[in-house]
Amino acid sequence: MKVFVTGKLSQKAFDALQNFAQVDAYESDDPMPREEVEARLEGKDALVCILGDKIDAELFKKRPQLKLVANVAVGYDNINVSDANDAGVLITNTPGVLDNATADLAFALLLAAARRIVEADTYVRRGEWKGWKRELMLGAELNGKTLGIVGMGRIGKAVAKRARAFGLNIIYTRKADDKKTDDELKKTFDAKRVSLHDLCKQADFISINCPLREETRHLIGKAEFALTQPHCVLVNTSRGAVIDEEALVEALEQGKIASCGLDVFEREPNVPERLMKMPNVVLAPHIGSATKETRAAMDELAVKGLLEAFSGKLPANAVNPDVWKKFSARK
Ligand code: DGY
Repeated sequence: MKVFVTGKLSQKAFDALQNFAQVDAYESDDPMPREEVEARLEGKDALVCILGDKIDAELFKKRPQLKLVANVAVGYDNINVSDANDAGVLITNTPGVLDNATADLAFALLLAAARRIVEADTYVRRGEWKGWKRELMLGAELNGKTLGIVGMGRIGKAVAKRARAFGLNIIYTRKADDKKTDDELKKTFDAKRVSLHDLCKQADFISINCPLREETRHLIGKAEFALTQPHCVLVNTSRGAVIDEEALVEALEQGKIASCGLDVFEREPNVPERLMKMPNVVLAPHIGSATKETRAAMDELAVKGLLEAFSGKLPANAVNPDVWKKFSARK
């Protein structure tokens, strides 16, 4: 069988793949142009791709031999799963292995925004520091405050674990209405489930940790920023489009929130000019899962799922397991 890889893989994952299949891989770590992906996919049975690759019906139509797409990311909003179902293409992602790295980054952004680390760094480097001052770079303390976690899945829970160590009280929203999980979250983190409306009103800090789906697109917009407290610090390590970016910029300009830390943006890699100019905004280039350990684990999980699927075992990380029968018949 033949596999195309649009990015680099760890040596271990690459070797495992090569023992099993004929592998063609893009030579660069830069995002690959769509036309080149299409061209190199000719005659391939499987694709290992990254979140910048758009996977849809047009691609499946042009490359009918394609049977599996392994997305090296937990979020798979770059893939039209309904198109994949129609085409009988199995999709896998990389859940679980990046929870800690992403939660670490959420906390790094939260602390950086709350304690004005980037501003402070710039101030020192510019030679503006003339000595200790009582009112210099005053920020917000975490201990005893309330963190609102939007999306209490695996990553949300990893954020909650860190939050408890910082003395934060936790409120959260989650999609599934499931009392058992709410009871567990109460027991483990003393966390309380609330409506999004109440979360926006009560939280001193907000962390966005839900996936991007049709129902979560612009989940946080003008109406929600009308509820937030002026001292609120917002952090997003999920997907940019969960927040209405225009509304976010306005909220910052109008003082409806105090600051934010963003790892993700609506139109990556474009970052609105107005955000770039704000000193109270901490910006990162989508590096939530970017640790050496996590990258290797993501690659290995992506390859593991692919090998399992082509060896006749439905991988646990399949996002559309209902397509398994169709996939198996095409294989
Ligand atoms: C994911 O896995 O969805 C991340 O955003 C990629 O780092």
